[in-house]
Amino acid sequence: MGMLIKGGEIVTAESRLRGDIFIEDETISAIGSDLAVPPGTEVIDATGKLIFPGFIDPHVHIHLPFMATFAKDNHAAASAAALTGGTTTFIEMACPSRKDDTLDTYHTWKQLAEGNSACDYAFHMGVARYDANTEEQLREVVKDGTTSFKIFLSYKNFFGVDDEEMFRTLKLAAKLGVITTAHCENAELVSQLQQQLLAEGKIGPEWHEPSRPEAVEAEGTTRFATFVEQTGATGYVVHLSCAPALRAAVDAKIRGVKLHIESVLPHFLLDKSYAERDGVEGMKYIMSPPLRNKRNQEVLWNALKTGLIETVGTDHCPFDTEQKLMGAKAFTQIPNGIPGIEDRVNLMHTYGVKRGGLDIHRFVDALSTRAAKLFGLYPRKGTIAVGSDADLVVYDTKYRGTISAATQRGINNYNGFEGFAIEGRPSVVTVRGKVQARDGAFVGEAGRGRLLRREPQY
Ligand code: URP
Ligand code: ZN
Ligand code: ZN
Repeated sequence: MGMLIKGGEIVTAESRLRGDIFIEDETISAIGSDLAVPPGTEVIDATGKLIFPGFIDPHVHIHLPFMATFAKDNHAAASAAALTGGTTTFIEMACPSRKDDTLDTYHTWKQLAEGNSACDYAFHMGVARYDANTEEQLREVVKDGTTSFKIFLSYKNFFGVDDEEMFRTLKLAAKLGVITTAHCENAELVSQLQQQLLAEGKIGPEWHEPSRPEAVEAEGTTRFATFVEQTGATGYVVHLSCAPALRAAVDAKIRGVKLHIESVLPHFLLDKSYAERDGVEGMKYIMSPPLRNKRNQEVLWNALKTGLIETVGTDHCPFDTEQKLMGAKAFTQIPNGIPGIEDRVNLMHTYGVKRGGLDIHRFVDALSTRAAKLFGLYPRKGTIAVGSDADLVVYDTKYRGTISAATQRGINNYNGFEGFAIEGRPSVVTVRGKVQARDGAFVGEAGRGRLLRREPQY
């Protein structure tokens, strides 16, 4: 039995046209006007609605042992939340710590997602140290279809790599034809500044940003770009938060360095005053790189509009208020991270497309198509075309609502965007031709998601 999505306005990164989409066997088999309706076809009326390709979140943490606790999420809940918000594919960071085995980590993450995620998914393979086994293990991961790496320049002694390890990882990535994503902050500076602030009795969440100022991120970005340049690798800066780091990345790009730039939802809409709130209210907003001075937001939006910032992820990484309070006596103990997987599409649509002058095609590109292209998923994902997976978002631009922890699907006990108005919401979301979410509710098949195996492409 096929499915026909009828009469919507199909919006991709390149085009906009009114038409019907016919789906057979998980893929799009025809696009046109007034397509025939064979008997038994399930028809979805999309009149008055937009139809986007399923959105892709390229930066997600679901299972994450971090800062003496675990991110408060699981694949069933996070994927259902993602789907209700229009995200049909996520790429999760499989993150070993320095003491963990790379392959064990990879298998643990795969097992946790398999049979539990309701949407499709892939991984960026974390590299936390480089020893005698690393090359062989990473070759095996790439052979299994995971063709992107993740390194942290920050989080000294836990996830973080030193310069030699970064160099060797990038050399190998270049040889294997895979892209390396990087968290760019100078670990030593963060560590020294943290100790200095604590010694001065500065223990509250408002001191998190001063412990990792913009210059620290700019240095990490410059150094990563230099290493990418010298190794001939392809790099991807994750969760870029501020103008100096953007300048560093753009400077490398105009030198011809193969460097791509991601920012994430919180940095477009929240600023450091949120983390300066009293007690746990401030702790809710602790993430790294930290929320910045508000003046950076205009720079990030402009960079997104012009395509300097290519993708927008979430860095979804929820910790509840009890976990956040682990840092009540020292901001350095507050677990870093904030949820967002459910709200990225609606918030970027509202504050970008509806209210901020973000071109709707750039919106689709930044939240779906570009990630598909950079991470080897295109044209299977990231577009609406004959032969592509039928991951579709029928979007109701007339919906009006307000974000609230009381109504979210995610399992965290707060939402960092509490009270934000939204204009627009997915009314139907399909994954490979099956309706998985409707009007803010998960209505699909748990565990339907598949691991997306990819080919090296750099
Ligand atoms: O604060 C953050 N960003 N937490 C998640 C880990 C990371 O650095 O991406
Ligand atoms: Zn990070
Ligand atoms: Zn992250």
